[in-house]
Amino acid sequence: MSRGIFITAAGTGVGKTLTTSALAWQLARAGRAVLALKPVVSGFSSEDPDSDPAVLLRAMNREPTQDAIAEIAPWRVQTALSPDRAARLEGRPIGFAEVVAFCRQAIDSHYEHVLIEGAGGVMSPLAGTRTSLDLVVQLQIPVVLVVGTYLGSLSHALTAFKVLEISGVAIRAIVVSDSTDGVGLAEAAATIAAVAPPAVEILPLPRLAGALVEKWRSAPDLTHLCHPTGRRS
Ligand SMILES: Nc1ncnc2c1ncn2[C@@H]1O[C@H](COP(=O)(O)OP(=O)(O)O)[C@@H](O)[C@H]1O
Ligand SMILES: [Mg+2]
Repeated sequence: MSRGIFITAAGTGVGKTLTTSALAWQLARAGRAVLALKPVVSGFSSEDPDSDPAVLLRAMNREPTQDAIAEIAPWRVQTALSPDRAARLEGRPIGFAEVVAFCRQAIDSHYEHVLIEGAGGVMSPLAGTRTSLDLVVQLQIPVVLVVGTYLGSLSHALTAFKVLEISGVAIRAIVVSDSTDGVGLAEAAATIAAVAPPAVEILPLPRLAGALVEKWRSAPDLTHLCHPTGRRS
């Protein structure tokens, strides 16, 4: 059984970090050795206490020191553009093979569970013409696809699902994260469930209130996503 899970999304800002951090927090609470990574992060500021790497570290009960951030997120660019463009603008292009090797090494390490949060959406350019999709195809690990419920989200969700499916990626679950001003969580989840095969779990994530740790506490249990048993009847 693969111990790596890749968390990708139909777009940006839909709930990847929330899903990854809630899952990391729940696994850590259950006494599991978990490592959450954000290999490539754009729009990063070391001053931001809620940057993706800082949030993931807190979810693992680790201090978000600069060293710890560098360890789980080696490719950090400040410009809030797609990683490839941002990295080129900053004069430090990202090497796709190096990102693959970094993730592979983590997956093969002693951790029971390795959660890898992608950058942006499933086809956000990562390095040259390579996208998160290419990364997950190379890694051959299952994905959790996070989608929203904003107006227009269904087409984004089903497009992302389809491209993963035709690329032969194992889709462990689709997390339907209720957007601010969402147009209906239950309806969105039902529509996606009607399209996705029964082996793909559809997991509605309601709009959670409070600080991050309160969101992790009140999130539905996600730990079964790390085991290939989540099936709908
Ligand atoms: N279901 C939800 N309930 C409450 N807040 C959410 C939910 N989904 C996303 N958010 C919030 O929306 C913002 C963007 O989500 P985030 O997980 O950072 O997205 P991504 O990692 O995909 O860019 C964060 O502040 C996050 O906590
Ligand atoms: Mg994120």
